[in-house]
Amino acid sequence: MSQLASQIAVITGAGRGIGRAIALKFAAAGADIVCVSRNGANAEKAAGEVRALGRKAWAHAVDVAAAADVAAVCEIILAETGKVDILVNNAGVTRDGLLMRMSDEDWDTVLNTNLRGAFAFTRAFSRGFLKQRSGRIINVASVIGLIGNAGQANYAASKAGLIGLTKSVAKEFASRGITVNALAPGFIETDMTAALTEELKGEILKGIPLRALGKAEDVAEAALFLAGPGARYITGQVLAVDGGMTM
Ligand code: NAI
Repeated sequence: MSQLASQIAVITGAGRGIGRAIALKFAAAGADIVCVSRNGANAEKAAGEVRALGRKAWAHAVDVAAAADVAAVCEIILAETGKVDILVNNAGVTRDGLLMRMSDEDWDTVLNTNLRGAFAFTRAFSRGFLKQRSGRIINVASVIGLIGNAGQANYAASKAGLIGLTKSVAKEFASRGITVNALAPGFIETDMTAALTEELKGEILKGIPLRALGKAEDVAEAALFLAGPGARYITGQVLAVDGGMTM
């Protein structure tokens, strides 16, 4: 399968979980991958796994919330790869707490990572996308950005913001053949959700018509579809990968 042959994809938060699954899925489909993560060792590890699939890979450690660092690393990436065809803004964090007790720091960390980080990467590569008159941008949002969640005002705001960013940039870039879409995963089994108690998991399952948590692989399949030739005519959309949770 070489749906993404000769494509170069930059994936943030590629060190583990959903980002890593997308990196490996895209590599298996023929893409070369730039693995970006805050954790350098994880980024290197994911890059090694991509190389083991026979593709080129680069690893970069950067905090996506640090605007100046992002600008610098994107320059380095472009110098190394010569072009970027696909950008997946996947890096994300949670700092849960009830609104009344939520600190400014927890608000800022989540907004700056999940939303500002995506803005910074999108802006950094936009000139190249516009010049080459092609490109795919995929933002990993969340069902929480669609329906909200008690204890996650910061996270919900960041993901709803990411959906607004997706639609606005989709409108700005459409005339140049660039598509911008969002994925809205539901509950996916990764380190982010590993902390859930069995009791809470049971409660969550009651709200999922397909009666199962999702896997990182499920999100990666949807990302591959949005990055591939079959999604040529799809832009500004939010694709829920949630077992039917939000229908
Ligand atoms: P994870 O915690 O396993 O992985 C997140 C990755 O992002 C890690 O590699 C981490 O190093 C990186 N990262 C975090 N903050 C960063 C920063 N400031 N700079 C650079 N890299 C940073 O999480 P998971 O589950 O793989 O989540 C990936 C994305 O999917 C996130 O945006 C998350 O909000 C979203 N998501 C996850 C769901 C789930 O159930 N696991 C559900 C809905 C959305």
